[in-house]
Amino acid sequence: MRILITAGPTCEDIDEVRFLTNRSSGRTGYAIAAEAVRRGHEVTLASGPVALEPPQGVTVLNIRSADDLHRECLACFNEVDAVIAAAAVADFTPAERLKGKLKKSDNDLVLRLVRTPDVLADLGRRKITQLLIGFALEVDNARPNAEKKLREKRLDAVVLNAPESFGRDAAAFSFLTADGWQDWGRIAKRELASRLLDFVEKSVERGA
Ligand code: CTP
Repeated sequence: MRILITAGPTCEDIDEVRFLTNRSSGRTGYAIAAEAVRRGHEVTLASGPVALEPPQGVTVLNIRSADDLHRECLACFNEVDAVIAAAAVADFTPAERLKGKLKKSDNDLVLRLVRTPDVLADLGRRKITQLLIGFALEVDNARPNAEKKLREKRLDAVVLNAPESFGRDAAAFSFLTADGWQDWGRIAKRELASRLLDFVEKSVERGA
């Protein structure tokens, strides 16, 4: 299969020195990419800036901003069988990007932020047969919020996790599909990758 995986944070530049970003090490997306390649799939990894070596055999698209990610995902979406969106995409970006470096003054600074494209929701609107898996990082009302994401972004599955998974090799995950919830408990990100790919392989086989 051809699988597109998004990983890492996006960086939304304020000027040539400062940017807004999300906490994300990229470990989850990279673990999924490594497992997918190990299973013989053709893998494209659209990755924000992270301090990880990409797994061998993966095609890496280095992106910086949500806009970059949007463009790259749209460019290959028609050629893929499945998308696993593990990237922590910034929901807002500065309305203006300044050249050079913003000088401070004694006054407070007000930054105007505008919405970024919701890449996964856009893929959901365009999907024909592609399988879409998203992530939901929730603090309050976790399951209802994840259920809303599944519906509104037209996803086939959602992986729910909590902020404690940042930068760790293992974390607690729950998995939501049309069949309902599975509580996977605390598992290694390698194990998460393996369960997600089992789901992708079974679903794509069934659809074929
Ligand atoms: N996502 C995306 N493009 C965005 C934002 C998120 O593709 N601009 C994807 C992420 O990769 C992830 C899922 O959508 O798979 C997360 O959904 P989202 O609604 O953005 O989660 P939060 O940002 O946590 O939403 P909220 O702030 O509403 O909780």
